[in-house]
Amino acid sequence: MYQSIFKPGLFEGRAIVVTGGGSGIGRCTAHELAALGARVLLVGRDSAKLDAVRAEIAGAGGAAHGYSCNIRSEEAVRELVAQMVAAHGPLHGLVNNAGGQFPAPLREISQKGWEAVVQTNLTGGFLLARECLNQSMAEHGGAIVNIAADMFGSMPNMGHSGAARAGMVSLTETAAFEWAQYGVRVNAVAPGYIASSGMDQYPPQMRDTIRVFPRTVPLHRFGTESEVAAAITFLLSDAAAFITGSTLRVDGGRPNVRPGMPMPAPRQAGATAPFNGFHLAATPRVLEGG
Ligand code: ADE
Repeated sequence: MYQSIFKPGLFEGRAIVVTGGGSGIGRCTAHELAALGARVLLVGRDSAKLDAVRAEIAGAGGAAHGYSCNIRSEEAVRELVAQMVAAHGPLHGLVNNAGGQFPAPLREISQKGWEAVVQTNLTGGFLLARECLNQSMAEHGGAIVNIAADMFGSMPNMGHSGAARAGMVSLTETAAFEWAQYGVRVNAVAPGYIASSGMDQYPPQMRDTIRVFPRTVPLHRFGTESEVAAAITFLLSDAAAFITGSTLRVDGGRPNVRPGMPMPAPRQAGATAPFNGFHLAATPRVLEGG
């Protein structure tokens, strides 16, 4: 079973949509929410992956349903949300996690490549949030968590994604203001370097770069998927009832590094040991071995 630090039954009777629920942080979050009693509505493009996660969650005693949808399509998102409301009633939460990008320096990114990433990482999230609000949450309130990224300062070789994720932070702030009147809270989580299956999507020549990322992090390690899921879970929960418009960084302090300042490794390894509550967590291939 998932080892959540949150109270059993926290989300009993609530339906929570998780986009990008077929892998990585989305899959881990879906498991945690289901372990806490939520009915999880998994959204993604690849129905085989959604099916696999749905079966994993069912095997652990939770409730999940898969919905295949291209979140870049306004019409598809409108229909998806209508279908979910018809089948499950009020939607209480949305985790806008689906995303994708490819490494490239700005000068080599075509308009098509740029727009594909912005549509997936920003526009799709906007469409999901707007439809969940208009078709359900405006009537009864809810909580939305948008997944951004550690694009603070810059995001070299990921300029399209950095621009889209920074847009997610601004979208979060505006939606928090406009939707407070409906009792809908909107926050963001910005993960840094997380040991997640997403790391295996990058080309093999990035292996050496990825493996030394922890040297640039004050806590000197990668984060775990469940450390991100815990932040999302908290923001969805009633304990965060007075938090809206915030971006919670989960990055071991990476944006606080000052170039040229010595950065000693933490002295007591145990004090900064990773939290890993996900019973199915696996080391990404890129980090395996010495
Ligand atoms: N995950 C990555 N890209 C996606 C898309 N276009 N639609 C749904 N899930 C996705």
